[in-house]
Amino acid sequence: MPEPIKLDLVQRPRRLRRTAGLRALVSETRVTADDLIAPLFVVEGKGVPEEIGSMPGVYRLSVADLVKECRALHKLGVRAVALFPKLDKNLKTPRGAEALNPDTLILRAIRAVKKAVPELLVVADIALDPYTTHGHDGVLTAAGDDVDNDTTVAALAEMAVLHAEAGVDLVAPSDMMDGRVGEIRRALDKAGHTGTAILSYAAKFNSAYYGPFREAVGSAQAAGTTLLGKHTYQLDPANRREALKDALLDEAEGADILMVKPAGAYLDIIRELREATDLPVAAYQVSGEYSQIQAAARLGWLDLRRTRDESLLAIKRAGADMILTYFARSVAQDLAG
Ligand code: PBG
Repeated sequence: MPEPIKLDLVQRPRRLRRTAGLRALVSETRVTADDLIAPLFVVEGKGVPEEIGSMPGVYRLSVADLVKECRALHKLGVRAVALFPKLDKNLKTPRGAEALNPDTLILRAIRAVKKAVPELLVVADIALDPYTTHGHDGVLTAAGDDVDNDTTVAALAEMAVLHAEAGVDLVAPSDMMDGRVGEIRRALDKAGHTGTAILSYAAKFNSAYYGPFREAVGSAQAAGTTLLGKHTYQLDPANRREALKDALLDEAEGADILMVKPAGAYLDIIRELREATDLPVAAYQVSGEYSQIQAAARLGWLDLRRTRDESLLAIKRAGADMILTYFARSVAQDLAG
């Protein structure tokens, strides 16, 4: 052991870390149930909940079970859910026409949840990927080699109005098409839905972390096997300036909340967007982020609860006002004691 020395320090930062009381007093960031939005998957029929292989603890729910889950989340203090449909294969077409069926699964799910738990906020994605055979977020061009932006936007506007009629509180355009926020806003207003908010997937990256989600909703095809990935519409993970430009365009077009997705690998984007806008910023801790924590915990390599909490704290600290996370229920449960 070296000789003890007496450091002549005025500032000793450890002074404020000495006791639990001091640490609580100086704590800068807290995740509460108010911050959380729970993504939930819904399927047709009355079957028992089916667990998603790569997402332990996450299930595809029938509408009846979805309503039960929403009641439970609401009781735990969670304010909002984001609903995703998994469609029967035989309802999928190249143009995704089922998205505009006024009685399609997701609309029935929204009506059921809003009827049972009216105070719980319901968010729903506005994008065609659950409905297309190829798994792309939009209608393909005549040549079939890209997604046709403007035709897709027309479908999205109509889809958003149907969702608003079903009672959704926030529509979440998630496909990164150009001009979709403005067109959706115009369509909603024209149909009298001035109070329906737009939570825009404003900076959504072309990410490998969506893999388990695509298994969950059965839209995996576009990601891996076909000619085209989602590179022509989702952002290049290398690009920071482009992400900000795209997000601020959504603000100019009338978005109410701007979202960054994924979250954990894009904390710099969350922080910069936080500083570039006065709108609320949301972050989506996506399926792959959830799966990797779960997998490491299963192997005994990471502590599930501590890693979960740290990952969410980091997203909040980066500047997110709200977080979509598959951990919503477990966090709310632990907070409720
Ligand atoms: C589709 C959509 C995706 C997610 C949310 N909406 C996947 C994709 O872009 O292929 C991913 C969510 C997650 O991974 O948890 N528009």
